[in-house]
Amino acid sequence: MHYEFTDDYLTGIEFIDQEHKKLFDIANEAYDLLTNNFINDKYDRILNLVVELREYTIIHFADEEKYMESIQYLHRFSHKIEHMKFVEKLNSINLEKIDANQKDSIIDLLGFLVEWLQNHIKKKDCRLRK
Ligand SMILES: [Fe+2]
Repeated sequence: MHYEFTDDYLTGIEFIDQEHKKLFDIANEAYDLLTNNFINDKYDRILNLVVELREYTIIHFADEEKYMESIQYLHRFSHKIEHMKFVEKLNSINLEKIDANQKDSIIDLLGFLVEWLQNHIKKKDCRLRK
């Protein structure tokens, strides 16, 4: 496992932490795919990862936003905007260009996913900590 879900990522809210772990799993899957030299054509696997990440973040953000609403979290509006920007980023990935640039596509995907884990989860979601 390359990216480890350590205690400093914990929000203390059980279901949110579980969902964040899943995002770490996806990052690790992407890393394993990137560093796997036995697979020549990674195209379908990359597409799967992108789709998985798109689908999962939508569910996760909805859950997190519902929670923020339920506690009337003060920063819920600016927080929600960060979620929207991340979804936009995921949607802007050009699936047609992936095949010809497989390695770069995984590196790009990992780049902003890991940035998300380290900045958004650690710095923003952790403010929800009880
Ligand atoms: Fe969040």
